[in-house]
Amino acid sequence: RTMSSASDAPNTGGFQTVTIFGSGLMGSGIAQVVAAAGLKVNLIDTQPASLERAQKSITSSVQRVAKRQHAENPEAVASAVSDIMSRIHMSTEPDAAIREADLIIEAIAENLPAKLSLFQKADQLARPDAVFVSNTSSLSIAEMSQATSASRRAHFAGLHFFNPVPVMGLVEVIHTADTEPATLDRLRTLCKAIGKRPVSCRDTPGFIVNRLLVPYLFEAVRMLERGDASVPDIDASMKLGAGHPMGPFQLADYVGLDTIKFVVDGWSAKYPDVELFRPSELLNSLVAAGHLGVKTNQGFYSYE
Ligand code: CAA
Ligand code: NAD
Repeated sequence: RTMSSASDAPNTGGFQTVTIFGSGLMGSGIAQVVAAAGLKVNLIDTQPASLERAQKSITSSVQRVAKRQHAENPEAVASAVSDIMSRIHMSTEPDAAIREADLIIEAIAENLPAKLSLFQKADQLARPDAVFVSNTSSLSIAEMSQATSASRRAHFAGLHFFNPVPVMGLVEVIHTADTEPATLDRLRTLCKAIGKRPVSCRDTPGFIVNRLLVPYLFEAVRMLERGDASVPDIDASMKLGAGHPMGPFQLADYVGLDTIKFVVDGWSAKYPDVELFRPSELLNSLVAAGHLGVKTNQGFYSYE
């Protein structure tokens, strides 16, 4: 396989067919941006209902993007939507999609045993030169790569996207001690082809963004726990005083309180001495009460 593309096509790092596991929030966004760059996408999920939701959410998100580009031209919007959707093939049957893939992107739930079993199976069916990446927020890429053969580990990396994928301009490209530089070059080229800025990072807890963002969100919760300031005042402060698009409580609700709790629980178990990875009683009690943020209509704010 050649690394360069035809002169009129953008260079996508030599990737033509991308198989994505998990059609939830992240997998559906990644499918959208990869298909929008002209690549073929297989979107795989164990749950047909999740694929149905993905079909709807990708269609409406592509419409939002296309309307911005072709505001006065509904035909151009419709044609952009059908063009992109025609390149996304959804299925609950993974085998053919694994065999066909140049690149396998794992975006299933944040559960290490589930990810290990997926990568182990994929390793047996995929082409020897297929590249494997995980979109994990907090787990170790090197630990995941251990589920694959030694030769695959040269083509195993992290490719971490941000929510909402069609809007956020960053992708973290994470390498282990085994990842080959040529594989990282190809992944960075793909990121640019899908309109994202790649940054490189070692395989450390939270990589760049979450290593800074998650402790910041927890510091905001601790500030509230101490009674130093209120939720709306802390959020207003970071929006108007630091230029953030959302304050920390708005962002915690948006990301999901269960998600940030899960991240910190994992880190504090693994690194008990790191003060910034300490769990929060207040956050734990919200999650225990089923208040997970926007997705349950109640977190630090109410969304009823
Ligand atoms: N698909 C397509 N377009 C979308 C979209 C989607 N899902 N969501 C928003 N947009 C577009 C909208 O169409 C809108 O453009 P138009 O007005 O031209 O249509 C534009 O983005 C802005 O959206 P809104 O006006 O609805 O709202 P906003 O200006 O408040 O922006 C936001 C929304 C982009 C989410 C912004 O609030 C923001 O950047 N928030 C911070 C998000 C963030 O920090 N994400 C990272 C979370 S951490 C993470 O992801 C890592 C992890 O591992 C947990
Ligand atoms: P989600 O719960 O919205 O979607 C996960 C999907 O994976 C579900 O549809 C589920 O049915 C499917 N799935 C589970 N096991 C599967 C399997 N073995 N094969 C195929 N599909 C399977 O989760 P999400 O928020 O999209 O997160 C996915 C990954 O991305 C996680 O690792 C998460 O840490 C990471 N991530 C999340 C965010 C975020 O803000 N939500 C941001 C960056 C990265």
